[in-house]
Amino acid sequence: MTRITFVQGDITQQSVDAIVNAANSSLLGGGGVDGAIHRRGGPEILAECRRLRASRYGKGLPTGRAVATTAGKLDARWVIHTVGPVYSPGEDRSELLASCYRESLRVADELGARTVAFPAVSTGVYGWPMDDGARIAVETVRAADTSVEEVRFVLFDQRAYEAFAAQAR
Ligand code: AR6
Repeated sequence: MTRITFVQGDITQQSVDAIVNAANSSLLGGGGVDGAIHRRGGPEILAECRRLRASRYGKGLPTGRAVATTAGKLDARWVIHTVGPVYSPGEDRSELLASCYRESLRVADELGARTVAFPAVSTGVYGWPMDDGARIAVETVRAADTSVEEVRFVLFDQRAYEAFAAQAR
């Protein structure tokens, strides 16, 4: 049974086995969580991302998928990069957002990670409404078949924290 916890803070400061990055399909960095992870983790992470682009993901990592790299100078052992969907009011992309959480946990299981920290994928630059993003995140993790012992949602501000904590039961 996976324990689900919620904290307000910076995901790059978490002491967990794996930190999930809300990346984009280029895997070559960006703003938000992605920028913070590469800044604090150092160039090793980007170097491994470039190798992944040159080998397995020539066209980029597809939306809803996940792949692991080293965590460089971060406390964590691994960064699991996932690509959330851009929010679209006219098209239901919820399944792709759920897939980010499921696929990240699948990769975490392959690595043997026991503790995993997630940000609120897609709720920043990609525009997903926070309450709905929180619901999909927590429901998907609850339903996942995984050996991960703790999933820690790390929410940057109070509004995000409250939206996620409201999903607790
Ligand atoms: N720790 C925890 N949460 C954070 C942090 C942090 N250090 N920084 C921001 N957040 P975003 P997305 C929150 O934009 O929407 C990048 O440029 C933030 O408040 O990081 O999936 C990528 O390269 C928000 O609630 O990711 C992609 O191009 C949540 O994390 C694109 O943004 C996600 O915001 C991905 O957009």
